[in-house]
Amino acid sequence: MEKRILTGDRPTGRLHLGHYVGSLQNRVRLQYEYDTYVLIADVQALTDNFEHPEVLRQNVFDVTLDYLAVGLDPERVKIVVQSMVPELAELTIYFMNLVTVATLERNPTVKEEIKQRNFKRGVPVGFWSYPISQAADITIFKAHLVPVGEDQLPMIEQAREIVRRFNALYDKVLIEPKAMVGEVARLPGTDGAAKMSKSLNNCIYLSDPPEVLRKCVMSMFTDPTRIHPTDPGHVEGNPVFTYHDSFNPDKAEVEELKERYRKGTVGDVEVKQRLFAALDKFLAPIRQRRAEYEAKPERVREIILEGTRKARAVAQQTMKEVRTAMKIAYFD
Ligand code: TRP
Repeated sequence: MEKRILTGDRPTGRLHLGHYVGSLQNRVRLQYEYDTYVLIADVQALTDNFEHPEVLRQNVFDVTLDYLAVGLDPERVKIVVQSMVPELAELTIYFMNLVTVATLERNPTVKEEIKQRNFKRGVPVGFWSYPISQAADITIFKAHLVPVGEDQLPMIEQAREIVRRFNALYDKVLIEPKAMVGEVARLPGTDGAAKMSKSLNNCIYLSDPPEVLRKCVMSMFTDPTRIHPTDPGHVEGNPVFTYHDSFNPDKAEVEELKERYRKGTVGDVEVKQRLFAALDKFLAPIRQRRAEYEAKPERVREIILEGTRKARAVAQQTMKEVRTAMKIAYFD
């Protein structure tokens, strides 16, 4: 059997360069090697958007356009809407018995997210326990590999634990997945913050037009210790150079800029102008493909429905095996 990939994103906004280096790039690279399922995790997004669920609708389309724009091939990859695979909810419930409250409370990513969100009426059970539903996402498709950003590693670990527990208790039905993080585990924000995040307003989006891109790049944070372009500057930890390393394919140009920057013979403006040129070139084909699909909304709709239909068939098959393993398939 061909090995499978399952990964996904919450449809809470357009995808950015951080998503690209963290995960999208791996998905595009591996899509012909693995039978690939990409989940639009709207149920997970609801765990902190349940008061305004109407924001998800447009985002389901926008994220799909981002996927198609970066080069996921709809003939190959299944794009799946989570809420349209109700078997996921069933598996989540069974998994809940296999995880302790204490384990959930230790999840560092969820802890951090809870801090950022400042839930007014306390932490909703749905949000706090989403790692369990994410384990169902991964295992219902029997995925071997999960390309994700670094912040998702605790979720994959949780999924592995659940699989070990399930297989030991019932029967060896589920596959223990492995995480795969992009070469650049975490892309800093344009403001130098540790990562790009919508709430910090420090992102460059895959769909940004050239004028927006130029503005973002020219206002980027650089080396705070450097006052004049003739001061020797720092390249390490300077996000402008981190982006050059990730997105400028002309390595000789990047090396030359670094050398001149360290010596104080190139200004921030020039380094940024060259970064703009590199990023604009990188984004041009992505924008182009996005525009092509945007002009065919019917086709996009079909891609989503077809991907979800195929995925659901896989999920239904796994659930049969799960119920049999759990000895609750009373009438089979
Ligand atoms: N938690 C992921 C995120 O916030 C989205 C997600 C949901 C996911 N289900 C998944 C990622 C399964 C990988 C595998 O981006």
